[in-house]
Order: sequence, then structure tokens, then C-alpha cells
Amino acid sequence: MSDALATPSRTSEASTEAKAAAVVAALAKAEIDQADHAMRNWTDPEPGPVRIGSPQHLRMFCNMLLQTHNPYKPAVIDWPRLDPDALRRVTSLPIWDIAVQTEGRASVRVQAFADTVTAPLLRSALEMDGGEEARHKVVLSKLVEAYGIALAPEPEYRPPADVEWGWLVTGYSECIDSFFAFGLFAAAKRSGFFPAELVETFEPVIQEEGRHILFFVNWAAWYRRNLPWWRRPLYTLKVMRVWAFLIWERVGIARGIDADGVAKDANFPMNSTSSLAEALSPRAMIELCLAENDRRMAGYDPRLLRPETVPKLARLARRLLR
Ligand SMILES: [Fe+2]
Ligand SMILES: [Fe+2]
Repeated sequence: MSDALATPSRTSEASTEAKAAAVVAALAKAEIDQADHAMRNWTDPEPGPVRIGSPQHLRMFCNMLLQTHNPYKPAVIDWPRLDPDALRRVTSLPIWDIAVQTEGRASVRVQAFADTVTAPLLRSALEMDGGEEARHKVVLSKLVEAYGIALAPEPEYRPPADVEWGWLVTGYSECIDSFFAFGLFAAAKRSGFFPAELVETFEPVIQEEGRHILFFVNWAAWYRRNLPWWRRPLYTLKVMRVWAFLIWERVGIARGIDADGVAKDANFPMNSTSSLAEALSPRAMIELCLAENDRRMAGYDPRLLRPETVPKLARLARRLLR
């Protein structure tokens, strides 16, 4: 066959291929958009009021977590190319070791607690929660690898001796850290500290933490209601000890940062506050955290409880900052 004859068919072959590729890309995007919408919006189809602590409540908060799972695969995330300035800002944040280790610890603690639960639906929801923490760790490891960030050697993640303590510490610490992460993430997006494509790539992880705290506060209320009366005082004391521990831990982190500008160990938002939120006053930052918290919780069934303690404390702080 001569070239003169072959060219038109090759051209049409190429354009057919291009069209097919465009259709595949459009379908993939539609699928991603659908999964993204599904992870942010969920209502139990059964109408009517739900009593907190009831079997229906349990079914509802477990189904919320299970049915809003976004099946993205960290391995196929296409990390955007960053310009040299953005790359320097991202790699110089002193948070990557801590963030990776926090996720590693969380996944082991949640899984250890899941192993103690016999009710099948609650157990699968907890396993999904732990699995998502493990996936966060993979996402972060991929990010770190993509941008050439060197990590310190990781410790061994062991399940805690008191499995319930580990679960409560993880749950309540996520309630604190996610609240601030919501605001910091929005601030980083607005200010261009993180390039838009990177924000978009990382966004599902932040929403996942929102689902986790929604699940956790509903579990906590359900669990307390179902404890026999004689176990409640000790349990309440334990929760108070968890809060005391978390406050003590965060005060230590803040001191660590003040001392030499490098965080020794912390969760993501506590460490990044100084560099990401420089442009915002403390009051504006609190406003942003509160607004973002409401926005991220808005799509879920209004009959589920919302995280209350940290937003309440934030509103109190806002009043004091007037
Ligand atoms: Fe996480
Ligand atoms: Fe989480």
C-alpha cells in the first residue's frame, strides 16, 4: 500500500482513537465526580425520628460511614507538577513525618478496637474506618515520594494495651485536629499556599476525616447510652482522662514549636498553623474553621449528631477574642 493511500485512514484512525480516549476520560471523570458527591451526601432512606442510642441509630451511623466510602486508589493518584516555589513551600512544611506517623498509629488503634467488636455492622464500619486511616498513610507516603521529601525512619506501630483507650484517643484527637485542619486547608487553598491542583488531589482525605469524626461522635453517644449504669462513672472518668491527655499533648507540641521552630511530634494541623495561617488573624481563623466545619457536615443526615465540643470551645474563644 502506498503512503498516499494510507494517510487518510491513519488520520481517521487517530481521530477515532482520540475520540475514544476523550470518552474514556469523560466517563472516568463522571465516575470520580459521582464518588465525590456520594462521599459528601448521605441520608438514611427510612423516614422519621431516630432515638440516639437505639439500634436504628447504630445502623444509621454505621451505614453513613460504609455507604459514603470513596473507593479511590492512592497508587493511581496523579500528583500535580509543582513550580519551584510551591514545591519548596510544600517540602519545607515540618509536618510530613508526623502526619505519616499519626495515620499509621490511627490505623492500628482503630483496627485493634474493631477486633474487639462482635456486632457485624459496627465491626465492618470500624474496619472501614481503620482501612481509610491506612489509606491516608499510603496517600501521604505517595505524596512524600512524588515531591522528594525525606522521611525519618518510622517507629513500629503497636496496638495499645488498653484498646478502648487507643480508640477514644484517636477519635477525640481527630475531633480536635480535623476541626482545625478544615480551616487551615481552606486558608491554604485561598491564599494559594498550596496550588489548586494539589488541594483538589488531597481534598478527599480531609472530607474522610470529617466522616470519621461524625461517625465517632455518634458512636460515642450510642455507646454511652448502652453502657449499664454502674459502668458509666468510670467510663466518664476515662473520657475526661482522654481529653486531659490530648490537651497536655497539644500544649507540649505548641511548646516544642516555640522552643526551636521544629515540631517534635504532633498532628497535622497543630504543626502547620504557624506557616499556613500567618495571613489570618486568630479570630478570622476560628471563623473559617467553624464555617468549614458546618459546610463539611452539611450533606449528612440531620438526624445524626454533629461534633459539638470543639466548635463550642471555638465559639467561646471567638467571643473572648472580640
Ligand atoms: Fe486519617
Ligand atoms: Fe480519621
